[in-house]
Amino acid sequence: MTRVLVLQGPNLNMLGTREPEIYGHQTIEELHTTISRRALELGLGVIFFQSNHEGFLIDRVQEHDFDGAIVNAAGLTHTSVSLRDALLSVGRPFVEVHLSDPSTREPFRKVNYFADIAIASVVGKGAAGYGEALEILAAHLNGSQ
Ligand code: DQA
Repeated sequence: MTRVLVLQGPNLNMLGTREPEIYGHQTIEELHTTISRRALELGLGVIFFQSNHEGFLIDRVQEHDFDGAIVNAAGLTHTSVSLRDALLSVGRPFVEVHLSDPSTREPFRKVNYFADIAIASVVGKGAAGYGEALEILAAHLNGSQ
């Protein structure tokens, strides 16, 4: 079965209570349940990993046990050359997701270390963006088989 890693960066464990006017009211558990259902429909296996620690996210990527990924690097989007390098080193396609649209927020969020190496970016669509990302990734992985 095709395996998709859903990589969730710092502070996404706080979804539901964290700035809900920006990130919505859904908890990460609720979000992951919705993603699991969609993955099942698409015939994809899904692995979830959230960490507040850059190194743990890098270690998880280096496990290299997935065919493609959905990555919300959260604040690391705007800072992490190292997580970018990890994704490049495993050579797996990934879709970048952001609940909000960082390009319309503070200027420092316009810096993005992932967009140019992702197969697609889905931004500003809230939790629904993860479903769209799964569909893009499924089409890409099916096409490359
Ligand atoms: C985010 C956007 C980032 O700028 C921010 O640091 C986050 C969440 C989003 O999903 O909208 O933590 O990645």
